[in-house]
Amino acid sequence: MKQRTVIVTGANSGIGKAAVKKFAGEGHTVIMACRNLEKSRPVFDQVAKESGNKQVHLEEVDMGSFESIRTFCSNFHEKYKELDVLIHNAAYFNHGAPYKQSPNGIEITFATNVAGPFLMTMLLRDLLAESDDARILHAGSNIIKHFLNPKKGIDFGHLQKKPADPRSHSVYINYRNSKMALLMLTFRLAEELANDGIKTYSIQINGATMSKDALMKVKPRWRMIARIQNLFFRPPEFTADLYYEICTSDRFKNLSGAHFNHKLEIMKPAKVGTGIITDVKQGFGADVYPAYALNKEVSGKVWSTCNELTHSHIRP
Ligand SMILES: NC(=O)c1ccc[n+]([C@@H]2O[C@H](COP(=O)([O-])OP(=O)(O)OC[C@H]3O[C@@H](n4cnc5c(N)ncnc54)[C@H](OP(=O)(O)O)[C@@H]3O)[C@@H](O)[C@H]2O)c1
Repeated sequence: MKQRTVIVTGANSGIGKAAVKKFAGEGHTVIMACRNLEKSRPVFDQVAKESGNKQVHLEEVDMGSFESIRTFCSNFHEKYKELDVLIHNAAYFNHGAPYKQSPNGIEITFATNVAGPFLMTMLLRDLLAESDDARILHAGSNIIKHFLNPKKGIDFGHLQKKPADPRSHSVYINYRNSKMALLMLTFRLAEELANDGIKTYSIQINGATMSKDALMKVKPRWRMIARIQNLFFRPPEFTADLYYEICTSDRFKNLSGAHFNHKLEIMKPAKVGTGIITDVKQGFGADVYPAYALNKEVSGKVWSTCNELTHSHIRP
């Protein structure tokens, strides 16, 4: 297989760490894009040592900060000069935490999980366009199943404004919205980047065992739920292997805008209004995503919001 240059964000733990181990082990050039270098250094040392790969690198980026993303991308252009695979794996999901804004005044979940990846993609687009097989992968979540309920929708109201009643704020809901927005971006970017030969994919992750570190980021009530879930979830390596397959396999080379399930089947939009039995089947299955993801008005709003928020940070 041709050697690729790969960026994985949030590569110091969980699925991201397992993914860089996989890519490094297969001999690719791997850039671990992490926000805390001190914490990430031992992971980097371990990946480099175990893989014996001299082309494993550790770089700093905070996906919640546009300035940090700009610095990362500018350094990346100078230092690496080429890019084939961009994996947006990092995410904010500190369930139970109070409302928080990014350094750019954007609600932190949306900033980290949607606007940050959008900006990084745009700032690295030129390098990806030079690749003979450029692929971008977004880490999705089965949490978007909530949108099978037609009453659910993305609320953009508190994106840049603290809610008057803090009790109305929920990271869980913002996380759910951010993963839906990310899927909408996957579809839209597939169209926007097609002329550059850049392909976009998303994977619906049903659950991966959370590391101790990840568990400590969520409030105790959520931690208890996550600990129980951990008993049933697959190890991060399972999803990391799926990342690898999506980003390297020839069978996906001529495909873009695909949302995969854990069997690497392409998920389809759910059927709407066909009755309770279909609704239940769809809710429990892993074949469909909510039709809401194809709502042109909302996906257009996600697209314009990302463009407006990052506009002044995208400069040639
Ligand atoms: N685990 C699951 O059950 C599950 C289910 C569905 C979807 N997913 C998705 O899978 C992906 C990986 O999750 P995981 O389970 O492997 O979680 P994890 O172990 O907590 O890893 C998340 C990574 O993202 C990094 N990160 C968070 N905020 C960041 C920021 N502002 N800038 C840069 N890096 C940042 C974290 O870095 P720090 O160590 O510095 O915090 C960490 O390396 C996420 O997109 C998540 O939404 C996971």
